[in-house]
Amino acid sequence: MRLDLTAIEVDTLDDPDDPSLLEATDLLASSVPETCLGLVAYHASGYGSFLAAALTPPADARTLILRAVRGPDGLRAVADWRLLPGHLLLNGIAVREDERGRGLGTRLLNDGHDLAVRLGCRALLLDVSLDNPVAHGLYRRHGFTELTHSSWREVVGVRASTPAPVRLVNWPAFAAHHTAYGFGDLTVRTALGAEIDLRVVGTAIRVPAAPDTAALAAAIGPLVGIDRCFSAATRADGHPADAGPELARFVRMRCELASTDTPEVGVMSTQTPLIGKDDETLRRSAR
Ligand SMILES: CC(C)(COP(=O)(O)OP(=O)(O)OC[C@H]1O[C@@H](n2cnc3c(N)ncnc32)[C@H](O)[C@@H]1OP(=O)(O)O)[C@@H](O)C(=O)NCCC(=O)NCCS
Repeated sequence: MRLDLTAIEVDTLDDPDDPSLLEATDLLASSVPETCLGLVAYHASGYGSFLAAALTPPADARTLILRAVRGPDGLRAVADWRLLPGHLLLNGIAVREDERGRGLGTRLLNDGHDLAVRLGCRALLLDVSLDNPVAHGLYRRHGFTELTHSSWREVVGVRASTPAPVRLVNWPAFAAHHTAYGFGDLTVRTALGAEIDLRVVGTAIRVPAAPDTAALAAAIGPLVGIDRCFSAATRADGHPADAGPELARFVRMRCELASTDTPEVGVMSTQTPLIGKDDETLRRSAR
């Protein structure tokens, strides 16, 4: 049965010590295609701690905004928003299985729309799996249009590859983040001087589409203890020569907002309510 949407209250998860953060983590982990199990930050061992750390600074200084519908027996739904320059990005949204189809997803999307307007954003952004017709349809009906398509593929032949010579640009920060939260972003510099950003989740590594991703993975793998490598490519990039079976396809969608001149300040506090990856990588890739 569909609920009266106007009667559903949406709260900001604002307190780093709120036990609901772990429920939010579990819900968000379920929003990712099954074929990507263990490959995204939501599945990292320390993602709950990451969320708590992201909520530690003052509300109006944060870029991570968790909005949720609470119920008597825990969270019913959660949306993980990221405030990018001029845009509000839906990093993840999930409704508890027994609550789906009742309007909670629509409610959280409307809430994000209002939030983005109040923050003076130009547009909403999100990435959705092409194998998720319910979510895709919901976004289309909400005014989102397609921008780019991307594809994740296993990288094959890593063990047989000669490691590419690379320099580790941000190793201390990466290693500390990976140890603390179970995931991290590593920047490496190739022999030609190009800097490449890699996402490591547990023992899996995501590399951008490049001619020889296997050689890159062969260089990084032993340093980080990697046992799995996959590449993320938009259609324009094409697939690297060593790309194997497809894991998932995503589409980035955008919803334009009516222009606002005066962004509201302090909108992220509990009183004035306001969805890994994480912000930096999201600017560059699907998920
Ligand atoms: C996708 C999701 C967030 C939508 O939330 P929801 O509360 O179930 O959706 P709503 O009840 O608001 O319904 C939204 C629309 O989808 C339709 N819909 C919902 N469930 C459906 C189903 N099982 N089959 C077909 N259509 C369905 C509704 O009819 C509604 O259509 P309308 O916009 O024309 O009214 C939720 O189903 C979910 O958490 N899924 C698992 C995680 C996920 O896929 N997250 C999205 C990742 S991008």
